Amino acid sequence: MESVLSKIERLKNEKDAVILAHYYVNDDIQAIADYVGDSYYLSKVAVEVPQKVIVFCGVTFMGESAKILNPGKTVIMPEAGADCPMAHMASIEKIKDVREKQDDLAVVCYINSTAEIKKYVDVCVTSSNALKIIKALPQKNIYFVPDENLGRYVASMIPEKNFIFNDGFCHVHDEIMIDEIEEAKAAHPKAKVLVHPECTMVVIASADYVGSTSGIIDYATDSDAEEFIIGTEIGILYQLKKKNPTKKFYTVNSAQVCPNMKKITLKKVAFALDRMINQVEIDEETRIKAVKSLEKMLELSK
Ligand code: 13P
Ligand code: SF4
Repeated sequence: MESVLSKIERLKNEKDAVILAHYYVNDDIQAIADYVGDSYYLSKVAVEVPQKVIVFCGVTFMGESAKILNPGKTVIMPEAGADCPMAHMASIEKIKDVREKQDDLAVVCYINSTAEIKKYVDVCVTSSNALKIIKALPQKNIYFVPDENLGRYVASMIPEKNFIFNDGFCHVHDEIMIDEIEEAKAAHPKAKVLVHPECTMVVIASADYVGSTSGIIDYATDSDAEEFIIGTEIGILYQLKKKNPTKKFYTVNSAQVCPNMKKITLKKVAFALDRMINQVEIDEETRIKAVKSLEKMLELSK
């Protein structure tokens, strides 16, 4: 009987498909993916790859962004229910309200947001390009949606701008507690603390490095240190250990797991590709409005 791995390989060739995976998906998916990366890298790759079919091993907003940028390609999600709760934590009414009340305003949207929200914003950002893009915007006032923690971190780094925050959050990162970081530091005094900017400001303040998933991997790989305390989702450990087999990585609690990313399995990849199911559909009116914020992100982060 054909193994699931050979089936995926055969289907990829038959259907002219490429597999993109985020660092938070299960190790066996990262191992077979053609490209693995952070949200920004994956959105760029989605535009550059020649294949007609993209199998996106990530959550809904990632597949939607790939489809918005590539309307001519087929984008398949192996698991239709893999969604990021934070992507739904911005409100169109609130955006309209802030726009009415505030002059000289840019609405900046973390890519972790629905296609519908992207219709109403000026530019998208990811954790790896938010600082560069927001610094380059001419507007003084920034309404940052949906993630409050990332918004506050960016605001602390760009004091010349005035930020308005939204109350969205990622449960995985928001639940990383400063006491847990302190305990991990006490247990591993030589370890550097590397955290994602979706963590709270008090956790961010305790870190040696704050950055996107790719940023964390690069920092650990380039560092002379041998031990690291990791303040993000555990899927990142696969690449950290692969690139740094002799270094040690410690997590801080048992909730550093994104249940949605973990829904994707090899069997679901094979099944979805075989049947060409769970195709991302974006109506053209939404796509035309939403694509502007993503294209602006790609342009400003060059
Ligand atoms: P990155 O862009 O850093 O990979 O983050 C994506 C994400 O969902 C973090 O929770
Ligand atoms: Fe969303 Fe958090 Fe999962 Fe990232 S880790 S996809 S922000 S729920």
